[in-house]
Amino acid sequence: MPKTLKLFNTLLVVAGAIALVTTGFVFRLEDFPSVAINLGDPAVTGGELVLGISFWTLATFLASALPVQMPGGILVTVSIAPIIAATSLGGPFAGALVALIGTTEIRELRGRVPWYGSLVNHAGLVVSAVACGLVIELIREIAPAGLLSDLFATVVGAVAYFGLNLLIVSVVVGLKVGMPIKQLLVEDSRGFAASLLALAPLGWLMARMYATPGAGWWTTLLFALPLYTTRVAYHRFVEMRDMFTQTIGALAEAVDKRDPFTSKHSQNVRMISVDIGREMRVSAGELEALEWGGLLHDVGKIGVPDNILLKQERLTREERMVMNAHPVLGAEIIAPVTKLAAELPIIRHHHEWYNGSGYPDRLMGDEIPKLARILHCADAFEAMTAARPYRMTPLTNEQALAELRKFAGIQFDPEVVDAFVRTKWAEDVRDPGRHADPRPIPLISQHAARTSQPAFDGPAPGSPAADLA
Ligand SMILES: [Fe+2]
Repeated sequence: MPKTLKLFNTLLVVAGAIALVTTGFVFRLEDFPSVAINLGDPAVTGGELVLGISFWTLATFLASALPVQMPGGILVTVSIAPIIAATSLGGPFAGALVALIGTTEIRELRGRVPWYGSLVNHAGLVVSAVACGLVIELIREIAPAGLLSDLFATVVGAVAYFGLNLLIVSVVVGLKVGMPIKQLLVEDSRGFAASLLALAPLGWLMARMYATPGAGWWTTLLFALPLYTTRVAYHRFVEMRDMFTQTIGALAEAVDKRDPFTSKHSQNVRMISVDIGREMRVSAGELEALEWGGLLHDVGKIGVPDNILLKQERLTREERMVMNAHPVLGAEIIAPVTKLAAELPIIRHHHEWYNGSGYPDRLMGDEIPKLARILHCADAFEAMTAARPYRMTPLTNEQALAELRKFAGIQFDPEVVDAFVRTKWAEDVRDPGRHADPRPIPLISQHAARTSQPAFDGPAPGSPAADLA
């Protein structure tokens, strides 16, 4: 375990313990009688308070029992609703108790989670619940009393709970796997923040029903069904996403399998592209586009006949034109899939050259979509370091990197090559560095001149980098 992670975990556990003890003294349960389950006598007893806390703890335990695993590996449950309800009714200390005990998972009871892992998880939830309770109490203190302001206080408290919990989880995961925390925050919150926070008003409603005289604790059981259907919706979402990713992976594999020399090519290009994208600090959405674009970039090769795709000798001009149509064909194949709109420019332009002599549209410099420039570099490195029918001995990583450096500014975006050098793929590889004579970004006049040239029908000879199709 990294030292910084150890330190963060220790501080988190200490903070959780201090928060629990302090709120226990400051926000005593007796001051929040509405959290108790009243058994008859209007005066609230200690036993009725314990019964009330136990009820919410059990509700949280049941809501946590069916977690859904998100694509990033984080487990999501609908337990935010009963925790928010308990905090709204019983204050920060009650919220902390319910979060501490109620979120115990079955795998923890079975001893499948190391004790320090459980301690850190629960400390994070306690700190978040205390923050939620403090926010609710603070707003209640300053805002005029009323149902609307109480709802507002609870929803803002839920935002604090969700935000702080997400931050803590992202820091722990970020320190553990060495990923930027900001990126994890964006990746994990995207798509789920809104739906999880939608559970906050539901939690508030549960609390109000529970505290309404004549209604009672049992009315909160009516919320079990909407909570369960929300959980089912999460599960379906993850299932659909997995199915989509697997289908795309299968399609990419089908393309790679046609040519025994390109097995796993798409998967490798995907991994290299994503690593370059991370180094260039592209957005989470762009990283996802690189993932799927990397897998699908050569899908248009489905339309290239075997006698051309598998030909061992050099292609004729006509054959090269058929081969070079694959980016356009690939974009046409993918175009009807609206979910893949962001990947279309990557697929269409992954063979454009930085100096405008690529294909199919002879774009140059920044005209080429950034993600297509990234993929082009990843594609070239992968192709150069793998055996091909026309070059049975692949280049070494040193030779391939030298080619990328040599053709930076001609074929590749120099900034993309710089970013590639910082990835693990170029680790311990001797880097000749940027070209001594930096090539300028192509100018508009060059752009005008190229339109009068005949259409590009083959890569410039002399470069192994130029050989990839
Ligand atoms: Fe290609």
